[in-house]
Amino acid sequence: MPVKLESSSAESKGVSSTALQLSTVGLEMQEDLVGSSTGAAEEDLRNGLDGGTPIVNFYRGKHVLVTGATGFMGKVLVEKLLRSCSSIGKIYLLMRPKKRQDIFQRLKDMTDAQLFDELKATNRHLFDKLHPVQGDITMPNLGLSASDEALLCETVSVVFHSAATVKFDEALKTSVDMNVLGTRRLLVLAKKMKGLQSFVHVSTAYCNCNRSEVFEYIYPAPTDPDNLIHMTEWMDNNLLEEITPKLIGDRPNTYTYTKALAETLIFKESRSLPLAIVRPSIVTGAWKEPIPGWVDSLNGATGLFVGAGKGVLRSILCTAEKRADFVPVDVPINLMITVGWYTGTRRDGGKLLIYNCVSGERNPILWDEIQIWGNRILRQNPFNDAIWYPSGTFTSHYWLNNIQVFFLHLIPAHVIDLLSILVGKKPRMIRLHSRIAKAIRALEYFTTNEWQFFSKNVPHLLSQMDPRDAAIFDFDIKKIDWENYLEDYCMGTKLFVLKEDRDSIKKARNQLRRQVLKYCRILLHITLAVCLLRYYSHHMNVFKRIWFYLMSLVIRVHHFFVKDV
Ligand SMILES: NC(=O)c1ccc[n+]([C@@H]2O[C@H](COP(=O)([O-])OP(=O)(O)OC[C@H]3O[C@@H](n4cnc5c(N)ncnc54)[C@H](OP(=O)(O)O)[C@@H]3O)[C@@H](O)[C@H]2O)c1
Repeated sequence: MPVKLESSSAESKGVSSTALQLSTVGLEMQEDLVGSSTGAAEEDLRNGLDGGTPIVNFYRGKHVLVTGATGFMGKVLVEKLLRSCSSIGKIYLLMRPKKRQDIFQRLKDMTDAQLFDELKATNRHLFDKLHPVQGDITMPNLGLSASDEALLCETVSVVFHSAATVKFDEALKTSVDMNVLGTRRLLVLAKKMKGLQSFVHVSTAYCNCNRSEVFEYIYPAPTDPDNLIHMTEWMDNNLLEEITPKLIGDRPNTYTYTKALAETLIFKESRSLPLAIVRPSIVTGAWKEPIPGWVDSLNGATGLFVGAGKGVLRSILCTAEKRADFVPVDVPINLMITVGWYTGTRRDGGKLLIYNCVSGERNPILWDEIQIWGNRILRQNPFNDAIWYPSGTFTSHYWLNNIQVFFLHLIPAHVIDLLSILVGKKPRMIRLHSRIAKAIRALEYFTTNEWQFFSKNVPHLLSQMDPRDAAIFDFDIKKIDWENYLEDYCMGTKLFVLKEDRDSIKKARNQLRRQVLKYCRILLHITLAVCLLRYYSHHMNVFKRIWFYLMSLVIRVHHFFVKDV
């Protein structure tokens, strides 16, 4: 019997009948897990040992569907499936044409990325297993042609659903269309798949960020997903935007809200489909594979490193002593592949299992450590064309941060832009600063709060794995040495996001030294000129007029750029 998830009035007080019901769900799930450890799953594990490992054998000859393959996590998933499960059948990639590129060109661009280099050099023929399928999760029936739909329904055994909009402040309508309706459309397709053995849905640990403690449960939906979908279909966009803050309630953005609703849809179908949910926290550059430090997205923590490394991000509102829940991308990917196997081989009635893929519980890293190690690493391995020494500081005081932002971001940005204008270059620092400020504001909720994520299913799954599988599909977060990892992550950001050369480090160090000296000289001259002007403005009218003229000019330029962004 599916457990009914209903919100009660006591819910807001943190103690609710629902919470009790939910604990029961959790217990049920835990019992399932414990039951399986001595039963069929272990037998499957033993049976799988001939010729390969249990996980490799599970994927042997199986056809898999991946959504979101062109994304940061999707690419790592596809690469890992090809490299470690080379006997896999076909990997269908649901892709949409974009920027006048058809799906075949997009596949080519995707596999041209450096993370596929090893495969290209050693096993190029494995790319023949990749089959792009034109589709769009926002379109009815996923925008699939009748023949593609039939093909997927006949052949696919495992689905990895990673496609989503990860934009925190996406308009609610778009976010619902992609994250909620997109999931519903994929579930409808999954129901038609004749041989489906597992469906792994990628959620986020923060979909329940309105709670300080998050277990591997499905919590009561913030609203009924079907009602909300209906509402977004008929309601005027402006009105919808107006009521968005009311709808999302105590969640900080439409992303976490819609990902929570998607989980409710998954839960509803979990009696009829072999479903599982993996909830990563903040996904960062690779730990070990495909290349240590590999990352290709500026989202989240990587953006912070780029800003700090380039010297434009100097102050962030962040509670340094709180945990930053980082998980390197290969950790959730290896977990997802393992969950695919486990969901497909359990013989225990298959209740929905949720995996909180987090680091805070078993191997925490604090923001403070990131600040100290990050600044040191970035100074030792600077990025090219940095405008200042990497020296990002975290402060939990709102006003102190604002003052620091004013002196360390805004004033230098104005000075640099003024100099650019004077030498005939395009001013860009104030605009850049405004963009960074917007991105940082979206992250502040996550850098100033802390969550206690609990995960029993992840260590339990680890305990169920053949040791060879545990080595191949390693997601044991406990093994990560964060300081060493951050070195690789910063280097990965330099190499794969900024596309800078490894050999450029020495040059970048000299460049940085010269740049800082140059700014010191300029600053000294400006300070001297301002002091002299101020002094003479008290004594001579002409200087007084120049002083006021300059002041009003600075204010106007500032207003112009700030309102323009
Ligand atoms: N990155 C993180 O820190 C993080 C943390 C927790 C959970 N997650 C979850 O992990 C999943 C992957 O995240 P990510 O960081 O890899 O995101 P990403 O880099 O933004 O990739 C999103 C993927 O979804 C695809 N997609 C978007 N809209 C689509 C549409 N209408 N039809 C078909 N495909 C569409 C994108 O395809 P295009 O290339 O065509 O745009 C892209 O392949 C998401 O479900 C996210 O919620 C991510």
